Amino acid sequence: QKGGYKHFMLKEIFEQPRVVADCLAGRLDATHQRVCLEELAGMPVPKRLHVLACGTSYHAGLWGMHLFEDWARIPVSVEIASEFRYRNVLLDEDDAVLIISQSGETADSLACLQLVKSMGVPVIGLCNVVGSSIARESDRVVYTQAGPEISVASTKAMCSQLTLLTLMALHWGQEKGTLREADRIACIEALRQLPALLDDHLPAMREKARELSRLYADARSFLFLGRGHCCPLALEGALKLKEISYIHAEGYAAGEMKHGPIALIDPHFPTFALALDDALFPKVKSNLQEVQARNGEIIALTNEGMDLQVEHPWIIPRVWGPLGAFMALPALQLFAYETADYLGKDVDQPRNLAKSVTVE
Ligand code: M6R
Repeated sequence: QKGGYKHFMLKEIFEQPRVVADCLAGRLDATHQRVCLEELAGMPVPKRLHVLACGTSYHAGLWGMHLFEDWARIPVSVEIASEFRYRNVLLDEDDAVLIISQSGETADSLACLQLVKSMGVPVIGLCNVVGSSIARESDRVVYTQAGPEISVASTKAMCSQLTLLTLMALHWGQEKGTLREADRIACIEALRQLPALLDDHLPAMREKARELSRLYADARSFLFLGRGHCCPLALEGALKLKEISYIHAEGYAAGEMKHGPIALIDPHFPTFALALDDALFPKVKSNLQEVQARNGEIIALTNEGMDLQVEHPWIIPRVWGPLGAFMALPALQLFAYETADYLGKDVDQPRNLAKSVTVE
């Protein structure tokens, strides 16, 4: 069942090119370079969107927020389901709620769904498991079509969520006319190229992850930093590392460093940074210089030709706009995987964790 891979997690990481291709199948109109998301057809574009989820699905939602705001100009809030459900929330009828859940059974996410439905607000479920509770109870369901995810650490499910969130943001951007045609065409073209690009680069990424994992497997703590659309990826990189290797890791918005975490930096506290070629690169670079001034070592995911001097630059292919996430994500997953495997941890079934959290 593991298809020759040592663990399900590794198999699922390597399935990501196929997952992206499956998510796109039938959803792109090649002639007109448009997105066709049948699942949302006829639904008014929400005035405000509230995204609710837990864990990795929450990180996917944070990433999607940037796209909904940029392309569809929809005000978005993203919240952890277990917090949202106990607040005295204010929702309007022309808002919509998007619940993201791989399993479709996460208790807090399901409770949010029931709460917002009782308030008369339309709910869209973004789920992987067909016929799951969240899929059944949502007004609209968008399936991520990633196939069964066995490893407790979520990998390919997040990749599929990012793909569908991109399509949803393109769809609403098209509907509202707020998305520039040139951006839409460039994004669709980049999406189309993703499966082959991932396929080509995953083996080398694994090698690099293996090499770095050997250097840092004895770290007691790791800091993951990113800004803008890379900030949610920093959170995800930290979550992956801690849940399977049991190395303490904190994901942080790089701009928040000065407000506390920088006090922790010393030569034994490595930083894993996302420093991709985007508008915030100069800001990230200056945040990393502050880490270096305190003798902190840095691994940085970056792109060819970027002016960045760190101990371990990790060059990944440049992809259009926010879609750089599709290259950064497997690198983060593989780093966590290789570290945990090197440390002899139970990669697929980490201690204290269940695949789906059906109790609150
Ligand atoms: O099934 P869901 O997407 O609702 O699950 C949410 C979280 O429990 C899940 O993402 C969890 O954080 C994973 N173990 C992360 O790898």
